[in-house]
Amino acid sequence: MEKKLAEYKCDTNEATCLKLVRFPEDVEDDGTTFHPEYSHQLFGDDEVAFGYKGLQIQLFYTAGNLSTLFKVKYSSKVTDTFDCVEADDVEGKIREIIPAGFTSNTDDFISLLEKEANFKPFGTMLHSYTVHNEEAEQLTYQIHKADISCPGFQEYHERLQTFLMWFIETASFLDIDDDRWDFFLVFEKYNKDGETLYATVGYMTVYNYYVYPDKTRPRVSQMLILPPFQGEGHGAQLLEAVHRFYCSLPKVQDITAEDPSENYVKLRDYVLTKLCQNLPSFDADKLHLGFSADMIREAQEKLKINKKHARRVYEILRLRATDMSDEEKARAYRLEVKKRLFGPYRKNQRELAKMRKCLRPEELVSHMGQLDTQTQHEELEKSYQLALEDYRRVIERLASQA
Ligand SMILES: CC(C)(COP(=O)(O)OP(=O)(O)OC[C@H]1O[C@@H](n2cnc3c(N)ncnc32)[C@H](O)[C@@H]1OP(=O)(O)O)[C@@H](O)C(=O)NCCC(=O)NCCS
Repeated sequence: MEKKLAEYKCDTNEATCLKLVRFPEDVEDDGTTFHPEYSHQLFGDDEVAFGYKGLQIQLFYTAGNLSTLFKVKYSSKVTDTFDCVEADDVEGKIREIIPAGFTSNTDDFISLLEKEANFKPFGTMLHSYTVHNEEAEQLTYQIHKADISCPGFQEYHERLQTFLMWFIETASFLDIDDDRWDFFLVFEKYNKDGETLYATVGYMTVYNYYVYPDKTRPRVSQMLILPPFQGEGHGAQLLEAVHRFYCSLPKVQDITAEDPSENYVKLRDYVLTKLCQNLPSFDADKLHLGFSADMIREAQEKLKINKKHARRVYEILRLRATDMSDEEKARAYRLEVKKRLFGPYRKNQRELAKMRKCLRPEELVSHMGQLDTQTQHEELEKSYQLALEDYRRVIERLASQA
């Protein structure tokens, strides 16, 4: 019986089929399907749905307006009567995250594609850029700034944010009924039967925090480039456009991010280094003199970059300007980075020392101190190597864009 029931378990990342549809033929084309990276928020940590064989959850969206087709298909399902077990309510779980107004009829969905010609990007255009794809076509993209006052935007955003659940591990939906939210959207212009249409590529949400007495601190909340468009430079274009937009506003103190992911930090390192590399205080001859007050001031005043981020930029640019085959220079560089990395370890050590005072001797492992120092040394070296790896990646990317 157990073996039989095991056949009715499905991996929900595989079973969920997402699609951004431009042309009717995309609906049947498996090549345009993509799958979630995460489905644990809906289906639990195992990312498994029970009760179905051959489960397929179709969530297809029209490319621009994101009108939605939602269907659940399977080849067989357990039944209360014969198997005495109940199947998971897959449909109910998906309905919790997708807004009303979707269709479950493929023909209706295909007819919605005709309305895509009426879909126009929301808000005002901040930036436009072109990219050459593999077929040597020139594609044009636009970055727009929108807010909740844009007609139809609230409903569109509800459809757009459903993607967060599948691609951000700790995603949560926004209640955007607050005019402190800014939205930045990326669209691709494409041609269909001689008409120009717009496809949704990705977006970023930013909350404008108030800073006493008269400043704001925009904080990036979520950023998503839809998977078919990832790794093509759109994330960098979007982040740079957002930075440039806020730099132009005198009331902005600096730009921060909420709980940034590793990927986001990588992207930010690249974008901020690209922006800072031409500032006089970051000139190659000044980098070897250390992280200076001038760097902090210039990055903050001209680019609204805070001290912590400016420090990373300095380390990246200094690495680029350092001949690492020269032992002395490499050592000076290593010490400089480790000095910063050591900050949290020193704090740890202070806390440990305090703890020792409170504990009875028998509670202390005799060689705990020694072990900690060694572990900390190893951790520090590991952090340094990881930072170097990330920094080298940024330097390579800057060189490839030069
Ligand atoms: C993180 C994220 C926003 C990055 O967006 P993106 O559009 O893929 O970013 P980019 O294309 O600018 O850069 C990504 C990589 O593609 C590479 N790349 C960019 N253009 C390229 C091109 N034309 N050819 C080859 N590689 C390219 C970049 O060098 C970079 O590689 P690296 O990370 O090894 O340095 C996106 O992957 C995403 O939405 N992920 C899921 C959600 C998430 O993690 N959000 C962030 C936290 S909320």
